[in-house]
Amino acid sequence: MSGKESSREVVVRQTQQKITQEVCAIFRGIVRESVEQRKTCSLALAGGTTPRKLYQALARGCAVDDTPWSDVEVFFGDERDVPQDHVESNYGMVQRTLLDHLPIQPARVHPMPADADDLDAAAAGYEQRIREVVEAGKDGIPRFDLILLGMGAEGYTASIFPFTDAAAEEQKLVMACFVPVLGRKRMTFAFPLINAARHIILLVTGSDKAGAVARILGDDQEARKSLPAARIAPTDGRLIIALDYPAARAAGLKPDGGSQ
Ligand code: 6PG
Repeated sequence: MSGKESSREVVVRQTQQKITQEVCAIFRGIVRESVEQRKTCSLALAGGTTPRKLYQALARGCAVDDTPWSDVEVFFGDERDVPQDHVESNYGMVQRTLLDHLPIQPARVHPMPADADDLDAAAAGYEQRIREVVEAGKDGIPRFDLILLGMGAEGYTASIFPFTDAAAEEQKLVMACFVPVLGRKRMTFAFPLINAARHIILLVTGSDKAGAVARILGDDQEARKSLPAARIAPTDGRLIIALDYPAARAAGLKPDGGSQ
């Protein structure tokens, strides 16, 4: 027995607001549990519109909740090739919508240097920073307490796009890559780092994502093969796939439990 236990659960709520509220509670619970057990919580956050709504909800609640935010270390699962103050920066968006509202020391926030001249060297430097801050598991890979991911309609996650070097990478933990469909470079966590996490939340909402959701949850291995989000599979952790009904409908899933 490897002593490893992995689980996957799919949570569906009627609306984006309701699944965002549900994920807020799960997110806060993971931070609290991590700090109680290990005196810290290492987070890797995502960009995009869906994660943004979660950050806004977390920020709204932080004044009244007892989440130990001051013990959190914040990293970024991917970043665009723009300066931190650029409107497209994931760091900038997370800083404005969440971090500016939380009691987190700036030294515990680690922006991803995706606008560096030498992106490969910058990716290696970011990986080294992660190794300095995030404790490794038995396999020597840093084990984040929580990685939050979104998903594009084409099934990409973080900045791992279909048929790119990042989708095929099985050794590197952080990598720079050119994304042909965007015509731009990105920096991103690779699957070995993502799948080493204790908790992964994949938050997907909206009917435009329904096709990709049906494929990643379906049994058609061929259909799954080209979708990076189908490769999220924690080696010794918990995967929570959080969906609103419009995103879940094509997969034949209905809103479950909780406050509908
Ligand atoms: C990014 C994100 C990306 C995002 C998904 C979902 O840099 O854009 O990290 O992976 O999470 O594309 O984005 P939306 O919620 O905006 O569809």
